[in-house]
Amino acid sequence: MSQYDPNRPYNALPDLPPEVDIETPAILKKCIPARVALAELKQACHRIPNQKVLINTIPVREARDSSAIENIVTTENNLFRHAAAKDAETDMATRETARYLQALMDGVHGISERRVSTSTAVTVCQIIRAIEVNIRNTPGTALRSSGSDKIIYTPPEGETILRDKLRSWETYLNQDSDVDPLIRMALAHYQFEAIHPFTDGNGRTGRILNILYLIDQGLLDIPVLYLSRYLIENRDDYYRLLLDVTARSEWEAWIIFMLSAVEQTAKHTIAKIFAIKALMDHTTDFISSVNSKIYKHELIELIFQNPICRIGYLTEAGLGTRQTVSGYLKGLCEIGVLVEEKFGREKIFLNIKLMKLLASDDNNFEPYGPSVTNDPSPN
Ligand SMILES: Nc1ncnc2c1ncn2[C@@H]1O[C@H](COP(=O)(O)OP(=O)(O)OP(=O)(O)O)[C@@H](O)[C@H]1O
Ligand SMILES: [Mg+2]
Repeated sequence: MSQYDPNRPYNALPDLPPEVDIETPAILKKCIPARVALAELKQACHRIPNQKVLINTIPVREARDSSAIENIVTTENNLFRHAAAKDAETDMATRETARYLQALMDGVHGISERRVSTSTAVTVCQIIRAIEVNIRNTPGTALRSSGSDKIIYTPPEGETILRDKLRSWETYLNQDSDVDPLIRMALAHYQFEAIHPFTDGNGRTGRILNILYLIDQGLLDIPVLYLSRYLIENRDDYYRLLLDVTARSEWEAWIIFMLSAVEQTAKHTIAKIFAIKALMDHTTDFISSVNSKIYKHELIELIFQNPICRIGYLTEAGLGTRQTVSGYLKGLCEIGVLVEEKFGREKIFLNIKLMKLLASDDNNFEPYGPSVTNDPSPN
């Protein structure tokens, strides 16, 4: 029986692995399609040889959705604007979500050295919150139900206890094991949230750690999985199933939920990658047919790497002088591929079709119109 009492710090939280069977037939059965979908996603990334196109675009959606779980609401468009013109004024939610993105990317860079560990968690949380973050050392953190403000869970208390539990969590995650890494990710996400080591930011940090773990385990090369999309769409289940593990050791339903999240979001991300690739190919064809003078492979890559582009990105990439590259961007605006805007003191250039595609659940895009030429076709 669980010793859980919603109003008292759950210092009896057991370490991983749970005592119950975590490889039931239902779990193992669900693991297969999740692994297949993830392997397909890893493959699909190679369809676009320039990985920056994916790295700069897909995690933005993940950051948006994961932050939205905490009611920090912004849009991809705001995030792209912010990325292109950091000095320009922007709202709190956009800045906070941009920090989530930064924490994810920094986490990816450090993963081979730091693995998924307490120190990784502290760094991630620190970047998200933009303050120095420590393991909780004061009482008073409790999770409340969104409707009634009633306490539903009080995480363990006492810095030593929290550090011990984190050490055990980290050891379990990084030791050799024949348990499928997706099952271990599900266990670890629950455990991290149940430990709730920080006063705030635990959910977002834990969701970044999920992605980092998939990379650490070799299941993904780059952080492209919209896992939070599933969690926000099923937020009530997400919270209820976490609580059911604590209250009733209901591990099976929780693990299956996380496996479904991986499967569904991997499939969704694959479709998005294919759509980006199709739009890139279409844009390439269109530009080369309408204005072959501005057609340059590197230019297309840059306007897909940066849904909002700046003159500086092109000069830095060696595409020419300011004057030359301004000419390219102007040419792309003339044929409707980019739209110029003023943002703060910056001139920015929006790849509208790409931005729409990234922000929408739909993977279709309106093709560019047929090329207009004055020469009537000979036949
Ligand atoms: N019953 C529960 N037991 C353990 N963890 C829970 C429970 N219910 C929710 N959680 C986790 O706690 C997180 C909220 O904690 P916290 O406010 O510290 O994180 P956050 O990142 O600021 O918020 P959010 O996750 O809402 O974005 C939830 O996202 C979820 O991951
Ligand atoms: Mg919070």
